Amino acid sequence: MTNQIQIEDKTFEILLEKHNISKRTRLIGIQMNVDYENKCPIFIGVLNGSFLFMADLLREIEIPCEIGFIKVSSYEGTASKGIVKQAFGLPGNLHNRDVIIVEDIVDTGLTLNYVLDEVRKQGPASIKACTLLLKPEALIAPIKELEYTAFEIPNEFVVGYGLDYDGLGRNLKDIYREKTVPSHLL
Ligand code: IMP
Repeated sequence: MTNQIQIEDKTFEILLEKHNISKRTRLIGIQMNVDYENKCPIFIGVLNGSFLFMADLLREIEIPCEIGFIKVSSYEGTASKGIVKQAFGLPGNLHNRDVIIVEDIVDTGLTLNYVLDEVRKQGPASIKACTLLLKPEALIAPIKELEYTAFEIPNEFVVGYGLDYDGLGRNLKDIYREKTVPSHLL
C-alpha cells in the first residue's frame, strides 16, 4: 500500500485500506447469509466498477445463489430528455426471484434507481441493493431498497478497488481519494 499515487493529472491519497474493505465485506456477507436463509437470491453486479467487490462479497456468501452482471451506459438524449440510461445484459428471469443489486458506488443515485426500475418491471419477489461506497451528500433522494452499505464517504472523487479515473486505477487494492490543494495555497 502506498499513501499517495498519481493518475494522469490527479494526485490521490489513501482513504480505505484493503483489510478494512475485507472486514466490512465479510460482515455484509454474514448479514446476507442470515437475511436470505432458505432462499436462493440472484446477485446482479453493476459493471465495470463492482467486479472486485462482487467477487469478494460472493466469497462470503454461503447460501445457494445465482450471479449475473449488468452494464449501464449513459448518453445524452434530446434536450427534453437529458441523460438517458440503457442497461445491457439484465437477466430476463427475475420474476418471483429475490434480487440483490451490487454497486461499487452510489453517488447521485441515478444509476441505482434506473437499475431498480428495470428489475421491478419483471415482478421480482423482493429487491434490495448493496453498495461498497455511498456519498450521502451527493444522493438526490434516499433509496429505500439500499439495505447494505459498506462505507459512507465524503463527496470526493475516489479511485481503486474497481473504481476508475479515466479508465485507470480499477486494479488498485485500496481506495484513494483525490488530493485537493488547500484553498489558502491556491
Ligand atoms: P450515480 O451518480 O449514483 O448514478 O453514479 C454513477 C456512476 O458514476 C457510478 O456507478 C460510478 O461508476 C461513477 N462514479 C461516481 N462517483 C465516482 C467516484 O468518486 N469515482 C469513480 N467513479 C464514480
